[in-house]
Amino acid sequence: MRLLLAPMEGLLDFVLRDVLTRVGGVDRCVSEFIRVSGSLLPDRVFLGYMPELLNGSKTLAGVPVRAQLLGSDPGYMAANAANLARLNPEGIDLNFGCPAKTVNRHGGGASMLQDPESIAKLVAAVRQAVPAHLPVSAKMRMGFNDKSLMRECALAMVENGACELVVHARTKVEGYRPPAYWELIPDIKAVVKVPVVANGEIWTVQEALRCREQSGCDDLMLGRGSVADPGWRWPCARPWRRERHLRRPYR
Ligand SMILES: Cc1cc2nc3c(=O)[nH]c(=O)nc-3n(C[C@H](O)[C@H](O)[C@H](O)COP(=O)(O)O)c2cc1C
Repeated sequence: MRLLLAPMEGLLDFVLRDVLTRVGGVDRCVSEFIRVSGSLLPDRVFLGYMPELLNGSKTLAGVPVRAQLLGSDPGYMAANAANLARLNPEGIDLNFGCPAKTVNRHGGGASMLQDPESIAKLVAAVRQAVPAHLPVSAKMRMGFNDKSLMRECALAMVENGACELVVHARTKVEGYRPPAYWELIPDIKAVVKVPVVANGEIWTVQEALRCREQSGCDDLMLGRGSVADPGWRWPCARPWRRERHLRRPYR
C-alpha cells in the first residue's frame, strides 16, 4: 500500500511538504497545481512552486514530488510539460478536479470532465511532449454536475497515456461536502488497467480502512486529514496502529 500526499493549492507548499514528509509515512507528494494558460512559463515559475526540482524532485526527507499542471489547451499544456520535463520532475500529474470558478470558466480543472474528447486530446498532447520514461498521471473528480461520464473520462485519460489515476470520489458540484463516494471507485477500476488511488474524506484510520475496502484500492491519497493530524499515519510501517490518537478537528 502507498500513501500519497494530496496537492493542496495555497496550503501544501514546499515548506509543509517538508514538514509532513519528515513526520514519515508518505510515499509521494504532488505539487500545488501550476496553472498553464496562453504562455510558456519560465523555469522560475516551476521552481517557485516546486523547489524540490533542485533536489532531484524530492523533499529534504527524500520523498518524491510529482509536478501538477492545470490547463485546457493541449498545445500550451504540451509545450509547458516539455519545458518542465527538462527540470527532471519525478513525474507530471494533470489536474481534472479543480472546482474553482476562475479555472472552470476557462475550461480547465473539473470543467473538462464534461467533455472526455477534450481530456483525450490534452493527455495525448502532454504524453507525446515528454520523454517516454517520465510518468504522466491524472487526478480526477467523478464528474462535473453528475457522475454519468466518469468512466468515459477515466478511459480518455488512460487510453491516451496516463499511467495512474487518483480519483477524488465526488463531483465538482458536490464540492467538499461529505460523503465521498468510495463505493463507486470500483466502476472506474473495472474499465481502466492502471493503478487507481482513492481520495476524499479520509480523516481517520477507520475511514482509511473502510475506503480501501469499499474502493478496492490498495493506495490512498490524503489531503486535509494529513494536515489536520499528521501523526495518525506514523509510524509508516503500521499506520493502522495509532487509532487511539485520532481526532477529527474539522468536524
Ligand atoms: C485548500 C485545497 C487546495 C487544493 N488544491 C488542489 C490542487 O492544487 N490540485 C488538486 O488536484 N487538488 C487540489 N485539492 C483537492 C485535494 O487534493 C483533494 O482531492 C481533496 O481535498 C479531497 O481529499 P481530502 O478529503 O483528503 O482532503 C485541494 C483541496 C483543498 C482543500
